Amino acid sequence: MQDPAAASLKDLAGKRLVLGLSGGIACYKAAELLRLFVKAGAEVQVVMTAAAQQFITVATMQALSGRPVLTDTWDESSTPDRMPHIHATRAADAIVVAPASADFIARLAQGRADELLGLMCLARPIERCALLVAPAMNREMWSHPATQRNLAQITADGAVLLGVGSGAQACGEYGDGRMLEAAELLDDVTAFLSPKPLAGDRVLITAGPTFEAIDPVRGLTNRSSGKMGFALARAAREAGAQVTLVAGPVHLPTPRGVTRLDVQSAEQMLKTVLPLAADHGIFIATAAVADWRPKTLAPHKIKKEAGNSGKKEAPSFELTENTDILAAVAALPRAPFCVGFAAESENLAAHARRKLEAKRLPLVVGNLGPQTFGRDENALLLVDANGEQPLPADGGSADKLMLARLLVAEIARRRASIRT
Ligand code: CTP
Repeated sequence: MQDPAAASLKDLAGKRLVLGLSGGIACYKAAELLRLFVKAGAEVQVVMTAAAQQFITVATMQALSGRPVLTDTWDESSTPDRMPHIHATRAADAIVVAPASADFIARLAQGRADELLGLMCLARPIERCALLVAPAMNREMWSHPATQRNLAQITADGAVLLGVGSGAQACGEYGDGRMLEAAELLDDVTAFLSPKPLAGDRVLITAGPTFEAIDPVRGLTNRSSGKMGFALARAAREAGAQVTLVAGPVHLPTPRGVTRLDVQSAEQMLKTVLPLAADHGIFIATAAVADWRPKTLAPHKIKKEAGNSGKKEAPSFELTENTDILAAVAALPRAPFCVGFAAESENLAAHARRKLEAKRLPLVVGNLGPQTFGRDENALLLVDANGEQPLPADGGSADKLMLARLLVAEIARRRASIRT
């Protein structure tokens, strides 16, 4: 039996997709993409061209989607009225063509309708059912002026290009034109189908710990994993924003479509953030910035040598305070809407409110640090001038990505209410 809570967590719950395959070796990736779509909660109707069936079987796609694959406009068994090109798209949120071959893109550009997938793209209700295209082809075919012309044409006609990857190709050549990986396509389709409360906005986010060097091999840092900041970057991009993520030393993949700038120390983070801040409408400071750094950096590794007394002495360091990046941004003449984080070990509401007031912020998000560092779940407390509000609303905990999406929606709502 399906757990209803788990079902509501699914990124594509309630979405209906048509997955179209045209001919290309990347058809093998379409099987994985279909599996990911289904796992994410989407209902998927697969449509395959004759060329696609040369690369992967109908049986595979039927088994993975759990429903008959459409292949032929004239096949009576698929729909008794022989109108599969109409029925499949009327309730669909999008047609995703993956792989889209050079030939199929040329057909789309011409509005050809002599086989089922092309016919379906042409006959879809254009204002309700998006057409997302994941090209896959040899690098010469990709860069050929005819293909580029056709891509420009289908984009002008309303199709959305999901981009291509670069690297080794099945033909043995190396370059642009590979189909994106299934997980990348899933992220892009999910982002495309998400609500867009931050469309046209620019969001700057700091994430992760900082590393304050003591000598060339050692330093002061903390246990922040960066997961919450990276989840927020992803959620803000899904919500339509252009996102810049300034990350301390973490081992996390960059969310799709996000510009990432890596830094090590608090000083580097400050130098990176300050010039960018005025160009961004929202600043979310999730980074666990070290409050202190060693006053001097030892030029060589500090050795555990015996001191004058003949006994080994522990080295001592003088520390100096790092600039508060969030407070510095909030004090700018054209400050963005600033959101602070407060990682506390007790008295969450009181400490968060103190930070709200001290740094003059419209919103502080509190969480209990030791309970969340490195974990995938978190519970937040939103603190502003009007009061406190737990997130999720029931006061429990939730997956960091789900929380990030809820928080991004809250930030968009609060900022919009300030503007109006
Ligand atoms: N912050 C920052 N730059 C710093 C220190 C903190 O941008 N040098 C930001 C954090 O990213 C977070 C907020 O300020 O959004 C709160 O950080 P925190 O370290 O919890 O609070 P402090 O103000 O340093 O107070 P304390 O260490 O006493 O809890």
